[in-house]
Amino acid sequence: MANKTLSDAMRNKKDEFYTQLSDIENELRHYREHFRGKTVFCNCDDPYESNFFKYFALNFNVLGLKKLIATCYDGSPVQGNELMLHFDSEEEPKKIAHKIEISEVKDENGDGVVNLADVQYLLQNDKNALTLLKGNGDFRSTECVALLKEADIVVTNPPFSLFREYVAQLMEYGKKFLIIGHQNAITYKEIFPLIKENRLWLGYGFKGGATHFHSVYEDTASAGDHREGMIRVSGVHWFTNLETRKRNEELILYKTYNPEDYQKYDNYDAINVNKTNEIPYNYDGIMGVPITFLDKYNPKQFEILGLMSGAKGDELTNGDDGRAKFYVNGKGVYARLLIRNKEL
Ligand SMILES: C[S@@+](CC[C@H](N)C(=O)[O-])C[C@H]1O[C@@H](n2cnc3c(N)ncnc32)[C@H](O)[C@@H]1O
Repeated sequence: MANKTLSDAMRNKKDEFYTQLSDIENELRHYREHFRGKTVFCNCDDPYESNFFKYFALNFNVLGLKKLIATCYDGSPVQGNELMLHFDSEEEPKKIAHKIEISEVKDENGDGVVNLADVQYLLQNDKNALTLLKGNGDFRSTECVALLKEADIVVTNPPFSLFREYVAQLMEYGKKFLIIGHQNAITYKEIFPLIKENRLWLGYGFKGGATHFHSVYEDTASAGDHREGMIRVSGVHWFTNLETRKRNEELILYKTYNPEDYQKYDNYDAINVNKTNEIPYNYDGIMGVPITFLDKYNPKQFEILGLMSGAKGDELTNGDDGRAKFYVNGKGVYARLLIRNKEL
C-alpha cells in the first residue's frame, strides 16, 4: 500500500508527511563532521512542527553550527506542538509564511540547561529571530532563494510532488544537501544522471527502506504496522551529496563468474546479476544489477554506466520513469543499473 500512498501523494500534490525526530537523528549521526561552522537551511519546515528544525535547534552547539534558518510555507497546516507562538494577527500560524534565523542557542531563560524552552524563549523575545516573509515561503521564491544562497547545507524532507524541481534548484546553486525522497526518484531522468556523475548519492537510509511519518492522511498499513496519527511509507531514502563513510566501503565480492549462472541479456551486451551480493569478483564487462545496488555503491570500486528502465524500448537510457526492458531468454527483467568493476 505504502508505495501507492506515495504515488497518490505525488499525483495529488499531497505533501504533508512530517518526519520523526528519531529518523532524523538516525541519519544525521553519520554526518556530524560536516556541520561545524556551517549555516543550515530547512526550507520546507514550519519551525513549530518540523523535527528538522527541532533537531538542529537542539543540537546547535553540539554540531557547532554558525546559523540555522527555517522557512515555513503558508500552505502548511498546523499540527500543533510544544513550540506554539503568538503572532500579532488573528490568523492561524499556518496562514503566515515566516522565517526563523538563529545564530546562537544559549540558556536564555536562565534555568541552567540549554533546551527547546530556550529556543522558544528566544523566538518570543528576540524580534530578529522570527520575521514574516513577504511571499508565501515557496522554496523557489526570491526571498527563499536568497536564504538558500546564504546557506551551506540544506536538510529537509521536501514536498514529494516537487522533488525534481527541488533537487534542480539545489544543483543550480551548488548547495550541499541531505534530503528525504522516494527511491523511485532514482530513475527520474532529471535525477539519474546526477547519480551517474556522482553528484548525488544515497545516504544511510531507513530501516527496511520504510518508515512512519506523522500525517493527516489515511494509513492503509496492516494492523501490525499501523501507528496512530501516522502513515507508513515504504521505499523512502535519504539523498545527499555529503561524503559518507559508507560510500567508501568496499563491497565484498565472493562469487565467481560463469556463463551459466550469469546469463547475457538477449538485447544488450551485459550479464544479468539478480542480487547485489552476487556480483562476481572476476567479471570485467558490463553487468546489470538491481537498483538497490546503489545502497552499496562505492564510486572507487564501480562505475555506473546507465540505467535500463525501458520506456524507451531497448535503448540504454539515462533514466526515465518506465518499466524494465531487459530480457533474458525472452523473459523481461526488472529495471537494472549497468555497472562495471573499476578495479579489474
Ligand atoms: C513532506 S512535508 C515535510 C515537512 C517537514 N520538512 C518534515 O519533514 O517534517 C513537505 C512540506 O513542504 C511544504 N511545501 C509544499 N510546497 C512547498 C513549496 N513550494 N515550498 C516550500 N514548502 C512547501 C508542505 O506544506 C510540507 O509541510
